[in-house]
Amino acid sequence: MTTGGGAADGADSADGEALAGGMVNAGAVFRRGALVERPAPRTARALHAHLLALGERGFDAAPRPLRLTDDGREQLTWIPGDVALPPFPEWVMAETALRSVGSLLRRLHEASAAIEVDGRAPWPRELADPAGGTLLCHNDVCLENVVFRDGRAAALIDFDLAAPGRPVWDVAMTARYWVPMLDPESAADLYPTGPDAAARLRILADGYGLSPRERAELPEVIEQATASCRAFVAGRVAGGDPGYGRILAERGGWRRWDRVQAWLVAHRGTFTAALLD
Ligand SMILES: Nc1ncnc2c1ncn2[C@@H]1O[C@H](COP(=O)(O)OP(=O)(O)O)[C@@H](O)[C@H]1O
Ligand SMILES: [Mg+2]
Repeated sequence: MTTGGGAADGADSADGEALAGGMVNAGAVFRRGALVERPAPRTARALHAHLLALGERGFDAAPRPLRLTDDGREQLTWIPGDVALPPFPEWVMAETALRSVGSLLRRLHEASAAIEVDGRAPWPRELADPAGGTLLCHNDVCLENVVFRDGRAAALIDFDLAAPGRPVWDVAMTARYWVPMLDPESAADLYPTGPDAAARLRILADGYGLSPRERAELPEVIEQATASCRAFVAGRVAGGDPGYGRILAERGGWRRWDRVQAWLVAHRGTFTAALLD
């Protein structure tokens, strides 16, 4: 899930260079040369098998799993490039960047569609598509989880929240962060000024090559995805997670979530028109 920034400050230690960018594993992701070591998610075994299968199918835009350690960590390949951290730099808001995120997600889905999902793995339900599905969705394509090279999305990282779902669910989750699907007041906190949400949603959908049927569904799926993200944050706050509690307070509490949801509903027709015109 997206961050408040500065979760780790690049300090070096015996573990390697601490990597900033995440909240869930804040301060626990380290780079040592060509590898990254981080807490292994509960699904690590199934996830590593999936990532290896992606590689075998020629999909080279995700980390390659290297090994699981005895103390519950995972090692993956480090992917060179740029990751945008908040407050987000202007380059990451360029139309070419947005379009490239859509097409990279499509490539991931096409490669994943050929891989059978392990139905016994404990895929997290937190951000999973409530409608279910057969595709292993990433579910957390926030800005901090995309590596760029030359202004284009080159790789997706951090598959901790991956779970089976419909492709349109993953597009909706991605739109939340990359358009972003936020009312202008909420977007102003983190994103360089004035993104035109309807126009950018269209660019993302075009980059992905979303079908007309899925375009018609997308605005309401974004509303559902936003509700799931709110429940995710509520769960973390209720569990006493200091990072999520702080960011919720800093960003105007639940009123902000109410405002975003009302704005999504009010503009549903505008988004549908922009997607289908
Ligand atoms: N394999 C990788 N290649 C390049 N950068 C990475 C890789 N893994 C993590 N990072 C960097 O470290 C940051 C935090 O890692 P991440 O695995 O996303 O943690 P979290 O689960 O807390 O979100 C990312 O935002 C990215 O900047
Ligand atoms: Mg992350």
